[in-house]
Amino acid sequence: MISFAKANVYSCLSPRQLMMGDGAAGQVEQLLAGWKITGGDVLLVADKEVVKLGLDRKVAEPLEAAGYKVAVFDGIVGEPTLEIAEALTELARQKPFKAVVGMGGGSSLDMSKLAAAFAVNQGKVTDYLGVTSFDKAPLPLINVPTTAGTGAEATAVSMLSVEGRKAIVLSPQLVPLATVLDAELTKTLPPKITAATGMDALSHALEAFMSVNASPYTDTQATTCMSIVAHWLKPAFEDGSNMEARRAMIYGAYLGGLTLNAGVVLGHSVAYTIANRCHLPHGVSCAMALPYTIAYNLKAIPERISQAADIVLGKHGSKPEELVTWVDELIAALGLPRSLKEVGISQSDVPAMIAECVERYPRPTNPAPIDADRLQVFYETIVTGDVARAVEYYQGG
Ligand SMILES: [Fe+2]
Repeated sequence: MISFAKANVYSCLSPRQLMMGDGAAGQVEQLLAGWKITGGDVLLVADKEVVKLGLDRKVAEPLEAAGYKVAVFDGIVGEPTLEIAEALTELARQKPFKAVVGMGGGSSLDMSKLAAAFAVNQGKVTDYLGVTSFDKAPLPLINVPTTAGTGAEATAVSMLSVEGRKAIVLSPQLVPLATVLDAELTKTLPPKITAATGMDALSHALEAFMSVNASPYTDTQATTCMSIVAHWLKPAFEDGSNMEARRAMIYGAYLGGLTLNAGVVLGHSVAYTIANRCHLPHGVSCAMALPYTIAYNLKAIPERISQAADIVLGKHGSKPEELVTWVDELIAALGLPRSLKEVGISQSDVPAMIAECVERYPRPTNPAPIDADRLQVFYETIVTGDVARAVEYYQGG
C-alpha cells in the first residue's frame, strides 16, 4: 500500500526518458536524435562479458549505420577499481564525445556515469568521492542494462572500489538521461545470475518499503516491483527463454532502482559484511540477509510488513511473519544458500561482523534501531539458517 501518512518533503530522482521493448537497444539513435545529437563520437562503456557475447554490437552497429563513430571501452569488471575509473575518465576526455552509453551490469552502468561527468569536468575521481556536484552538466547519458537486478540504470550513484574499500560518487547530475530496457539482452543470462540479480531487485523493493525514508513515490515503485518479482522471478529462473518473464524482470529491476530514492536498510549492510568475507554475487548476499532483516523489523513496522506479505502472497490479512517465510522459501526454490555456514562463515566470525556492520555500514533508514546487542541474534541465527528463531526473538522484543 502507498502510504500518505507523513507530511515530509521528498525529492526523488529518475531518468528523464524510458525506452523499453524487445530490440530497443538497437534504437538508441532515436534518443540521440531527439536530443539533436545527429552525428559525432559516442562512447560506449561495457564490461568484458557483454563484449564477449557481442551484445555491444546491438547498440553500436545501428549507431554506426546512422553515421555515429562509436568508441568502445570494454575494461569494466565487477567491483571496478579506481584505476579502471581513471583509465575510463582519461579516455572520455580524449575526444569531443557527444554522448555516453553504458551497457552491462551495475558496474558498467556506474562507470558510464563517471565517464559522462568527467568527459567535461576537470579533476580526479578521488576529488569527487561521496556526495558531490560537478561544475558542468555531464554529457547526455544512456544506460542499457543487460542484467535484471541492480537498478543502477535508475540511480544517481556510482560505486567503485578505492584501495579495497567500497566508495561512492553520488550526485543528482549522474542520473542517466535515458534508460533503455531491452529484455532480449537478458535472454542468455544463466539461471544462477537470474536468481541472484532478481533477489537484489526484491531486496531493493522490500528494504526501501521498510525504510523510514519511504515516500509515496518509492512505495509506488516498491509495491509494483515486489509483485512483479513474486510473479515472474521463478518463471525467468526456470526458463530463460520465457520472454514475458524477462520483460517483467528487467522492468521490475528498474523499478527496484527507483525505490533506492528511499535508501536501503539493514539488509544491504549485513550483505556487505558477508561479501567482505566471502566473494558472493551481491544479490546472493542480499538475499541471504533479507528474511532476517524483515524479522529484525517485525516489531517496529508490523502493519507495513503485513502489507508487503499481502502483495507477494496475493491475499488479504497476511501475518507479518508470512513475508519472512515467503522470502525464505523463494531463496530455497532458487537454489541459493540459506545460511552463512554453507558459504564458510562460522559463529567465530560473528563478533567482527557485528562490529563492522555497526561501525562501517550504519543505516539510520532502518525502522528498528541497529546496535550490537540487537544484532547478536540476527548473526547467530543466520549462521545456522534458523530464521524461525530470529522471528520468534524479534517478535518478542
Ligand atoms: Fe543491491
